[in-house]
Amino acid sequence: MSHQLVIVLDFGGQYNQLIARRVRECGVYCEVLPYTTPLSELKRRSPIGIIFTGGPDSVYLEDAPHYDPAVFQLGIPILGICYGCQLMAHTLGGRVTEAQNDSAREYGKTVTYYDTSCKLFHALPQQSISWMSHGDYMAQVPEGFALVAHSDACPNVAIADESRGFYGVQFHPEVNHTENGVEMIRNFLYQVCGAAGDWNMGDFCKRTVAQLREQIGPEGRVLLGLSGGVDSSVLAALLAEAVGDRLTCVFVDHGLMRLNEGDEVEQAFSKWNVNFVRVNAEERFLSHLAKVRDPERKRKIIGREFGLVFVDEAMRFGITKQDFFAQGTIYPDVVESGMGGQSAKIKTHHNKALPKKLLRQFKGVLEPMSYLFKDEVRQLGRELGLPEYLISRQPFPGPGLGVRILGSITKEKADILRQADFIYRDEIAKAGLDSQISQYFAVLTDSYSVGVMGDSRTYAYVLALRAVTTDDFMTADWARIPFEVLDRASRRIVNQVRGVNRVVYDVTSKPPATVEWE
Ligand code: XMP
Repeated sequence: MSHQLVIVLDFGGQYNQLIARRVRECGVYCEVLPYTTPLSELKRRSPIGIIFTGGPDSVYLEDAPHYDPAVFQLGIPILGICYGCQLMAHTLGGRVTEAQNDSAREYGKTVTYYDTSCKLFHALPQQSISWMSHGDYMAQVPEGFALVAHSDACPNVAIADESRGFYGVQFHPEVNHTENGVEMIRNFLYQVCGAAGDWNMGDFCKRTVAQLREQIGPEGRVLLGLSGGVDSSVLAALLAEAVGDRLTCVFVDHGLMRLNEGDEVEQAFSKWNVNFVRVNAEERFLSHLAKVRDPERKRKIIGREFGLVFVDEAMRFGITKQDFFAQGTIYPDVVESGMGGQSAKIKTHHNKALPKKLLRQFKGVLEPMSYLFKDEVRQLGRELGLPEYLISRQPFPGPGLGVRILGSITKEKADILRQADFIYRDEIAKAGLDSQISQYFAVLTDSYSVGVMGDSRTYAYVLALRAVTTDDFMTADWARIPFEVLDRASRRIVNQVRGVNRVVYDVTSKPPATVEWE
């Protein structure tokens, strides 16, 4: 690897991906590894710094996650956050206990006082708000450490042994509620770890194109699974740069696309100088999905069928075992599918359920963006000169309406949802809100409700509208759409879409919900 690396060692906290994003925002590459990663692996990767994350456990309990104490002998700076701070204190001879009184237990925004002679707080205000979430307390600080921050309730908010480059904070610098939190992370990286700031999209792009050329070889061909969304479009541009016309982009219309989407994708790509193939596979997908209600099974069936269509297409185009399959997997897909760090599996993203037959068909699977966050993918797209309308499109999940039709999927339901979703998107666009909202769509629930239309009773589907704002789709806030816009969308949908008699708006953020309903 030709850039510096920071390792985020994951102890199961809910903001761990956010830590990784903050580090990358500071121009330093980082990866999240589970706390079960052996020390030898950590050493082999030669990180310039290590960050221990938060986590739900109490460090003094027997089955709490610990790490090999020899990590403190590597000469590599370490920043411990919340649980990570307590782990550092516990391992190095301090004492962590359950907070005995409510005042030592801190949750939420807390006025905090910093010692700005400490490198971590260099050039920052002496007093600001930090965001806490801890019920344990460092009753005794380990030898060699100084107290470098306190709050009104707690004397031990941050500790530092500057001679060894060890820092611990009880609060969460990675969340927006902590004022100057990113600057503290930046200080750790630049003042303590000696970061060079060598992570940027221009370099990533050049390096990745060179690596892809080497891996694919002078003759190798690539079949790309293209959905027309941001990720696969950016990957198409990246691969086209690497191998030119040895790339074939296969767009599978599974019958779960939005209204007119298949034609739009075809049009966009026909303007581009790439081999583009459209496969109409509605019947195939819908027949396999018939009567399946479980969201995970639906996702897996969709993932599998995608894979099998790609195998058929590879055979049709004479793409052989010497060639590669590529897909636009990004970091949240990996993490939420339960394949990165300690985080729990939330849902299997369709591209993480490839059938064995596909794996056997190709020499390998290329996923060169699998360590990028969504906003980084967009930057990469700009770097590659992709048109802005493709880069800034709202994301559309690979399984399409399949994760927006609750319960079993039928063509009739897909048609109802397509029409309602189209009206909703139209109203959002007319209100000029489309560039302010990160993602917005309709969901067809599998509930019926009673209504009255033209003096008659109706009994029809409840439709939900969803809209979120987010940078990275790992967390998201529900969008505060003006009532008038919701009103117009609701009235048009109930009047124009047969089968829907009630519209509701989803006011749940992520967490605790996810963006999609399934
Ligand atoms: P969730 O529902 O996981 O969504 O909060 C976060 C973002 O990911 C998209 N998403 C997917 N994209 N394949 C994809 O290509 C999938 O299986 C998948 N599931 C969710 C979702 O639309 C949102 O942008």
